Amino acid sequence: MFSHTSSLLAFSVAFITSALAAPTVQFSASRNLARSTQDPYISSPGVDFISFRVTSDSKPVDYVATLDKGSNTDFHSILKGYEEMDDVWSKAFLESVFVAAGECGSQWSARAKHHLKSRKVSSKIASIHSASSFVGTKRTRAGPYVVSSVGEEGDVTLSPVYRVYTDSQYAFTYGVLPRVETSSNASLAAFVQAPIGGIEGFGMSAIGVPVPSRLYTLGEKSASKPLAGIRIAVKDIYDIAGLKTGDGNRAYYDFYPAAEKSSFVVERLLGQGAIVVGKTKTSQFANGENPTADWVDQLCPFNPRGDGYQNPSSSSSGSGAAMGAYDWLDSAIGSDTGGSVRFPASVQGLYGIRPTFGAVSLTGVMPLAAQLDTAGYFARTPELFKTFGEAIYQGSFENYDSFPKVIKTPSDFWNSTLSSLNNSVPSIFSRFVDQLALLLDENNSTQVDNTPFASVWNQTSGINETAAVYTNLTYPILIGNYQYKEFAVPFIESYRNATGVDPFIDPVPLYRWNWAVQQGDEAYEDHINRQLFFAKWIDENFMRSSDSGSCSESLLVYPQNVGRPDYRNVYRPPPGIPFGFSASRLSNIGGIPEIIIPIDQVQYNSTITNTDDQYLPITVSVLAAKGCDLMLLDLVKKMKSAGIVKDVLTGSKAFA
Ligand SMILES: *[C@@H]1O[C@H](CO)[C@@H](O)[C@H](O)[C@H]1NC(C)=O
Ligand SMILES: *[C@@H]1O[C@H](CO)[C@@H](O)[C@H](O)[C@H]1NC(C)=O
Ligand SMILES: *[C@@H]1O[C@H](CO)[C@@H](O)[C@H](O)[C@H]1NC(C)=O
Ligand SMILES: *[C@@H]1O[C@H](CO)[C@@H](O)[C@H](O)[C@H]1NC(C)=O
Ligand SMILES: *[C@@H]1O[C@H](CO)[C@@H](O)[C@H](O)[C@H]1NC(C)=O
Ligand SMILES: *[C@@H]1O[C@H](CO)[C@@H](O)[C@H](O)[C@H]1NC(C)=O
Ligand SMILES: *[C@@H]1O[C@H](CO)[C@@H](O)[C@H](O)[C@H]1NC(C)=O
Ligand SMILES: *[C@@H]1O[C@H](CO)[C@@H](O)[C@H](O)[C@H]1NC(C)=O
Ligand SMILES: *[C@@H]1O[C@H](CO)[C@@H](O)[C@H](O)[C@H]1NC(C)=O
Ligand SMILES: *[C@@H]1O[C@H](CO)[C@@H](O)[C@H](O)[C@H]1NC(C)=O
Repeated sequence: MFSHTSSLLAFSVAFITSALAAPTVQFSASRNLARSTQDPYISSPGVDFISFRVTSDSKPVDYVATLDKGSNTDFHSILKGYEEMDDVWSKAFLESVFVAAGECGSQWSARAKHHLKSRKVSSKIASIHSASSFVGTKRTRAGPYVVSSVGEEGDVTLSPVYRVYTDSQYAFTYGVLPRVETSSNASLAAFVQAPIGGIEGFGMSAIGVPVPSRLYTLGEKSASKPLAGIRIAVKDIYDIAGLKTGDGNRAYYDFYPAAEKSSFVVERLLGQGAIVVGKTKTSQFANGENPTADWVDQLCPFNPRGDGYQNPSSSSSGSGAAMGAYDWLDSAIGSDTGGSVRFPASVQGLYGIRPTFGAVSLTGVMPLAAQLDTAGYFARTPELFKTFGEAIYQGSFENYDSFPKVIKTPSDFWNSTLSSLNNSVPSIFSRFVDQLALLLDENNSTQVDNTPFASVWNQTSGINETAAVYTNLTYPILIGNYQYKEFAVPFIESYRNATGVDPFIDPVPLYRWNWAVQQGDEAYEDHINRQLFFAKWIDENFMRSSDSGSCSESLLVYPQNVGRPDYRNVYRPPPGIPFGFSASRLSNIGGIPEIIIPIDQVQYNSTITNTDDQYLPITVSVLAAKGCDLMLLDLVKKMKSAGIVKDVLTGSKAFA
C-alpha cells in the first residue's frame, strides 16, 4: 500500500531531513512556496525520477528545481517559460537548482547563479556537469522536485511534485498518484489514491486533487503521444489498475477490491501520454439523477456556471462540473447512454461528444445498456476536442474530404424547444445555422432543410405509429432490464451472500430496475428489435452516409441548452421512468454521433444571488451519419478558425 507519502499544508516549515531511514518523506512547503500558490503540495517519493551524486557543499535543501538548458542559453527566458506554462512551478523551487547542461554545465550554472543572485533569490546551486554523474537516473526532466532521500555517499533522489488543488465543486471521488513500483516490471499505468490532508483512501470524496508539473512532459508530444501531459479526469465507472471503482455507490465501492486492470479506454489514453489526475463522480450506476434528493450516496457536484447552484446534470456530473470549473484540468471522460455526456456538456457550456455507437471498446466499464453505451469526453477548446477524439477512438472513423452541404433543422425539434421562449435565445440558434451554412458554402448554396422529423418517419419507416410512440419505452426498458440482470443482480447477490444484508441502492436506479423487470423479457426482446430497426432506419433514411466525400449527406442541428435556470435547491417529484422521444434520442437509439457546441450565453435573474448579472451557457447539437465523428470534430475546428465558436472559460461564465 501507499504509505510513503503524506502532505503538510503550506506554511508548515517543519523540514524533515532525508536522514529518515524509513521510506517516509514529508514535503514541507516554505513560506515562499505557500505565498506563490496558496496550495499545498505533495510528492510521490517512490517514483524516483532522478537520482545523482553531489558533493557535500552543494547538498540541496528540501525542494529543488532542475533546469533543462536545451539550446536556450537565456536563463531569464527559461524561467519565464516555466512560469507561463506550468501552474505547479514556483520560483520557490529555485532555492536549490540542478542544471542538466551537458558539457558546458559549469559555465552555464555559474551564469544561472549570477542571475539568481541578481534577482535576490537565495539559492544554492548544485550544478550537474555531465550526465555521467547521474546514478540510477530514470529520466532527466526539467521542473520542480522534492528531495526524497540523500544517501551517505551523497546520492540524492528527487521525486516529482504535485500541487494539490481544492475540489471546490465536489466533483471528484478522489485524486490519484502513479503507483510506486519497485519490481523491474514497474508500470506507470497503475495508480494509488492520493493521500490528501494526511488521510489515505478516504473513499468517495476527494477534498483535493494533486496534479504533476507540466514541465515533466515538456517536449514529449509526438505522433504516438498526442496527449502527452494532458491532464484528464476519469468518470468513476471506468476501471483503473490499482484503484477502486465506486459507480456512485458506497456499498459497491467498499465491497469490491481495487481493479487489477485498467479499462481499455484508460489504457489507450495512458498509452498516448495522458495524465490521469483523479476519478470523478457519477450519478449512481450512471442513471440520471437530480440534485439533491436523488443523490443519496454522494453529494451531487456543483455546476460552476451562473450562481453556482444549477443542476450539473448527469450522469457524468463530476467530469462536467470539473471541466467547467478547473483550468488545471484539460479534459475529462464520461459515458453517454442516454445523454450522460451531452447534457452535462450542455449545462456546463463545454464541448462534448457522444460518438458513433461502438467507436471504442467498453471493456472495464460499468454497463448500463449494451446496445446504447458509449464512451465520450469533454473539452474546452476545439483543438483538444479533436485531438482527444482521434486519440480515444483511433481509426474507427470513415474518411472524408469535404463537409456536407445540407443542414437539417427539423422544425418539430426546433419548435418543441424554442416555442416557449420569449427572449433572444431563439435568434442565437438561427444565427448559428446561418453562420454554419455560410461556412459550408461561401456561395450561399447550403441547403437548410426544416422538414419535420415526424414526416420523414411517417413517409419512410413503414411503421404505422409515430417514432415517439414506437420508441417510447425503448430507452427505459433497454437500460433497466440490461443493467438489472447483468450488473445489479450479481452485485446484490454477492454482497448479500458475503455480508448477510442488502447493499443500499439510490431511489432512481432501484425504481428503474423494478419497472423494467416488471415489463418482462418479451417487452425487452421487442425493444431490442425496435432499437435495431430505428438505427437501421436512421442509417438508410435519415442520416445517410455520403459517397461524395463528405462522409455524411447532411448535418443535423438542433437547439440543446437554452439557458433556462435549473436550480439544485428545489424539491422534486419522486423518481420516474425516462419515457418518451425527443431530438436527443436520435443519436442514442440511432447509434449516430452527436457533438455539443457551446455557442453563447444568456443572462438570467438568479433567485440565489438576487441579482441580474448571472449567465448560463447556450449550446447546440450537431449530428452526422454514423462513423462521421472525425468530420464533426474537424468542423468545430473550422468553425473556430471562422470565428463562429471560441474556447470556453472556466468559472461562472463560459464566455467573457
Ligand atoms: C509484476 O511483478 C509483481 C511482483 O513481482 C507481480 O505480482 C505482477 O504480476 C507483475 N506484473 C506483471 C504485469 O507482470
Ligand atoms: C414550427 O413553427 C413554425 C412557426 O411557428 C410553424 O410554421 C411550423 O408549422 C411548426 N412546425 C411544426 C412541425 O410544428
Ligand atoms: C417570458 O418568459 C419568462 C420565463 O419563461 C416569464 O417569466 C415572462 O413572464 C415571459 N414574458 C412574457 C412577456 O411573456
Ligand atoms: C463559389 O463560387 C465561385 C464562383 O462560381 C467558385 O469558384 C467557388 O468554387 C465556389 N465555392 C464553393 C465552395 O462552391
Ligand atoms: C451570402 O450571404 C451573405 C449574408 O446574406 C452575404 O453577405 C454574402 O454576400 C453572400 N455571398 C454570396 C456569394 O452571395
Ligand atoms: C399497426 O400495424 C400493426 C401490425 O402491422 C397492427 O397490429 C396495429 O394495429 C396497427 N396500429 C394502428 C394504430 O393502425
Ligand atoms: C402519416 O401521414 C399520413 C398522411 O398525412 C396521415 O394520414 C397519418 O396519420 C400519418 N401517420 C402517423 C402515424 O402520423
Ligand atoms: C409513453 O408511455 C407512458 C407510460 O406508459 C405514457 O404515459 C405516455 O403517454 C407514452 N407516450 C407516448 C408518446 O406514447
Ligand atoms: C449467492 O448464494 C447463493 C446460495 O448459495 C448461490 O446460489 C448464488 O450463486 C450466490 N450468488 C453469487 C452472485 O455469488
Ligand atoms: C430581470 O429582472 C429585471 C428587473 O425586474 C427585469 O427587467 C428583466 O426583464 C429580468 N430579466 C429576465 C431575463 O428575466
